[in-house]
Amino acid sequence: MDRRFLVLRTRMDINGTIAAVFGGASGIGLKTIVELLNRNAKGVTIFDLPSPAVEDAVAKLQSQFDKNRVIFIPCDVTVQDQVNDGFKKMIATFGSVDIVINSAGVADDTKIDLMININLGGVIHTSVAAMQNMGKHNGHKGGALLNIASVAGLVPVPFIPTYTASKYGIVGFNSAIQKNFGKTGVRVLTICPGLTNTSLAMKLMSKQKLDFVDYENVFTHADQVIWQETDIVAKTIVDLFERGENGAICVVQNSEPPYLVDPPKIHDLPRRPF
Ligand SMILES: NC(=O)c1ccc[n+]([C@@H]2O[C@H](COP(=O)([O-])OP(=O)(O)OC[C@H]3O[C@@H](n4cnc5c(N)ncnc54)[C@H](O)[C@@H]3O)[C@@H](O)[C@H]2O)c1
Repeated sequence: MDRRFLVLRTRMDINGTIAAVFGGASGIGLKTIVELLNRNAKGVTIFDLPSPAVEDAVAKLQSQFDKNRVIFIPCDVTVQDQVNDGFKKMIATFGSVDIVINSAGVADDTKIDLMININLGGVIHTSVAAMQNMGKHNGHKGGALLNIASVAGLVPVPFIPTYTASKYGIVGFNSAIQKNFGKTGVRVLTICPGLTNTSLAMKLMSKQKLDFVDYENVFTHADQVIWQETDIVAKTIVDLFERGENGAICVVQNSEPPYLVDPPKIHDLPRRPF
């Protein structure tokens, strides 16, 4: 197969695209929206829980860019119907969708159901709807879907085991659905950021009072982690849309240049006798 052809096929010019950003009202999602608009995305829809902070963020974006380029649709990612209705409303405004990002997340290991429902259930809900609304199998032109996992989706973080589980789940889910690219024409991309300066990260790095967690021994390296700003993550996300191949898993941490990793294959795993 001609490799140059593959690379050309997977490139995307952000100019003129329509994007849906779930959890786009703050942090990494909000900064990614600014990056998309700066690279001339035609329209962006913010899907998030309603709050005064969201209204404020939308007003700022609409005054910085064009009022018609940014809309807000209230949406709880844990509810599939809200996600599906959200796509309908967005498409009624912009006509189609090319890019879907899920940046909705929480970090509270003491609220097991809530966190799994948002971090993992939400990603599955929005991804299924993204395939329905962008997939060639459904009469659309294809597109690109990016879900935000974490380095905690590649290596376990012992003091936040449930958060770790939700992020491993995203890496697994994305690694599975990217195999359908030939049918859907939707590239599936994963970003795994390290600690990034947002309110979620503050919560992540607090001792969350799980009585079985041995914080004295498993929290020890936490103060050595290098924080990074949202800009580098947002730029990496939009770069991935422009030139990431289907199935790409990209790590960006410690403010260092991003790099790609491959998911483990069963035959490559080191073995030892049982
Ligand atoms: N900040 C970090 O260090 C870091 C590192 C790795 C991965 N991540 C991931 O990046 C993503 C974005 O996090 P962030 O750090 O920008 O935090 P953030 O709190 O700034 O953004 C998360 C957004 O998700 C929204 N949200 C929460 N529950 C929702 C729901 N039920 N429906 C719709 N929206 C909902 C919030 O309102 C908020 O706008 C998350 O998935 C997070 O796990 C963050």
